[in-house]
Amino acid sequence: MSLYVNTGADSPASPYLPVGAVVTRVAKLTDKERLFALAPESPMDFAYQPGQFFMAGLPGYGEAPFSITSAPGGRELELCIRAVGNLTNAIHRVSKGGRLWIRGPFGRGFDTTELKGRDLVYIAGGIGIVPMRSLIKAVVGRGDYGGRTLIYGAKTPSEILFQGEMDEWSGKGMRVMVTIDKPAGAWGGNVGVVTTLMPKAEIRPGRTTAVIIGPPVMYKFVIMALRQRGLRDEDILVSLERRMKCGLGKCGHCQINGVYACQCGPVFKLSELKGLPEAL
Ligand SMILES: Cc1cc2nc3c(=O)[nH]c(=O)nc-3n(C[C@H](O)[C@H](O)[C@H](O)COP(=O)(O)OP(=O)(O)OC[C@H]3O[C@@H](n4cnc5c(N)ncnc54)[C@H](O)[C@@H]3O)c2cc1C
Ligand code: FES
Repeated sequence: MSLYVNTGADSPASPYLPVGAVVTRVAKLTDKERLFALAPESPMDFAYQPGQFFMAGLPGYGEAPFSITSAPGGRELELCIRAVGNLTNAIHRVSKGGRLWIRGPFGRGFDTTELKGRDLVYIAGGIGIVPMRSLIKAVVGRGDYGGRTLIYGAKTPSEILFQGEMDEWSGKGMRVMVTIDKPAGAWGGNVGVVTTLMPKAEIRPGRTTAVIIGPPVMYKFVIMALRQRGLRDEDILVSLERRMKCGLGKCGHCQINGVYACQCGPVFKLSELKGLPEAL
């Protein structure tokens, strides 16, 4: 995987300085998550990679990392933000026409060129679908990629994100399988953790690349199931969440044994994490 790190060196402003971004659209996705479409007020390169992140914040509340959920090459940046604390609840109070302060893009994302011709199996849990959506939108419906399967797990039906778009992705040839953790009301789909759906996915060792993004507990079991199906560690991509402050490899908050998740990741090949057992 080639290294793609935006240090901000080629950007007109310092990578430490946030720029204003006008909120052009807010969509309530669930009780906890909202999608914010942003139009940066300073020139911005929309050629980011899926899997990269922005720092976004508000004066008086600080800033935090948020994965890009829009596809590269568009005219707006989309972030999907779950309200969990001080900053994210304040961001949820910003409406259309308001402003967030952003800097980025940061980190190493998915190398979509390297993935060309590969069968892709996306395995997402909870809010992990947010960065996965950027990758899916970048390649869905394109003939230069192989088969595509999405396995997505949410706790309850009401927490499923981007349900309408999944129908659209199915219409473009992607196999979509969704599961919820426990039986609920009228839900007629699969019940159980994501690994219960994995036997239904076509996995061809040597041709398939699996991408995993989800809560930490999910990785171990999904990786075990993929290895049992014959996938090599270099064909398994993971995105890691760590506490981040600078996003630029300076503060050390995101360090995993000397590896800075904000710069060397958040996307890693599993084979790159061999000497870092605490990474997962
Ligand atoms: C690379 C990266 C990408 C991210 N992408 C998204 C995204 O697309 N959408 C989104 O909603 N959130 C995302 N997050 C998490 C987001 O940064 C945190 O939810 C945010 O910092 C919370 O800020 P707060 O002030 O609202 O909450 P705080 O008051 O700081 O925290 C509220 C609760 O969330 C927990 N928390 C805070 N940060 C993290 C973290 N990094 N990992 C696990 N738990 C945390 C705290 O322990 C606490 O329990 C991402 C994090 C990283 C590192
Ligand atoms: S967030 Fe500061 S070094 Fe990674």
